[in-house]
Amino acid sequence: MDIPDRCEALRGARVVLGVSGGIAAYKAVEVCRRLMDAGAHVSPVLTRGATRFIAPLTFSALASEPARTTLYDGPEPIPHTRLGQDADLVVVAPATARLLGSYAAGISSDLLTATLIATRAPVLVCPAMHTEMWEHPSVVENLAVLRRRGVHVLDPEAGRLAGGDAGKGRLASPAAIVEAATAILGSKLSLLGVRALVTAGGTREPLDPVRFIGNRSSGKQGHAIADELARRGAHVVLITTTDRQGPPGAEVVRVGTASEMERAVLAHRDCSDVVVMAAAVADFRPKVAAATKIKKGDGVPDIVLEATPDILAALGATPVAGQLLVGFAAETAGSREALLGAARSKLAAKHVDLVVANDVAAPGVGFSHDTNEVIIVGADGSSTDVPLTSKTAVAGAVVDAITARLSPPPHTSKELT
Ligand code: C5P
Repeated sequence: MDIPDRCEALRGARVVLGVSGGIAAYKAVEVCRRLMDAGAHVSPVLTRGATRFIAPLTFSALASEPARTTLYDGPEPIPHTRLGQDADLVVVAPATARLLGSYAAGISSDLLTATLIATRAPVLVCPAMHTEMWEHPSVVENLAVLRRRGVHVLDPEAGRLAGGDAGKGRLASPAAIVEAATAILGSKLSLLGVRALVTAGGTREPLDPVRFIGNRSSGKQGHAIADELARRGAHVVLITTTDRQGPPGAEVVRVGTASEMERAVLAHRDCSDVVVMAAAVADFRPKVAAATKIKKGDGVPDIVLEATPDILAALGATPVAGQLLVGFAAETAGSREALLGAARSKLAAKHVDLVVANDVAAPGVGFSHDTNEVIIVGADGSSTDVPLTSKTAVAGAVVDAITARLSPPPHTSKELT
């Protein structure tokens, strides 16, 4: 079980690699390759100018996703918001004077600038241009604006430029760019050393060898939380009923029934700083599962149900000192007040620290959707509304709430640069 360190910061990180139109665009291929080698999920975005210097196909062949070049004509209706929201980091290499100017002015005239403006992830820009342009007051001022806003800037080097010129303005080396990206993401590893146990998916309770009682849970939200915890440096044990991939470095335990999930949770809970019960565990199961397939010809069977173990309630009843317990409440509440009420009852009944409540009857919310809308309710009386957004963004809000409550607070790492 490896606990990720700073060098692992890129593993599993979602990186948008923006490429704008300068001769150094060819070096972005090497940046892409190095990011991939470090385990990042790379989504390339090329400006129209970049495509004059280097083919999108080159990036499509090397990256995790095909290269995107346009706001309008691709398969996704609004690619920039998806890219911006899901990114852990946006790297622009090379960043031209035009790109820096548009970004500083908030002009989203193409997919790359729109993504830059749509993201809350850290951004690293790596300018490359002729010395005259690099020293022009407009570029100097635009970069000062961006730096003030927290954008990371990797200055160009001095050296040979296009057209036989020499001077400051040559794109930083791909190695330096990837090192800067690692340092930025490394500084986000706020949960290094934290051990997290997460459950995900819906349990299946067998009626016979081929049939089961189940629910519509896809496991997407639980997996997104596990991914986010891992991305911030936590060591994750993920107990899942799905065949989805777990986060890199996580220990993944696959289970089917509530009893199997209970066994796995109890085996791991003592050494966990936080337990997130995101799984939709069945509340009832057939008292007897037939050993052979129930035959239609034998008539309609009487199925007697019994309660499953309430795993979360059991954890709440036998607390581990310093451990944070997070439960979920999937309700068909109908109103925010009713949802909040249900979440508060669950908090008290199961003795947990946080309940993430959603109204699964609302459009786009909960089971099987890629989006969710939740209220994060704390035993301290707090409540945080997360309006309809991606499950990745909801996971971010849940992990923020966890981080704020961990005791002792997780260590805060410092930037390398
Ligand atoms: O009581 P209810 O099923 O609505 O509670 C939901 C929460 O309790 C979720 O966090 C779920 O993972 C957990 N749970 C459990 N064991 C059960 C049923 C639910 O741990 N048998």
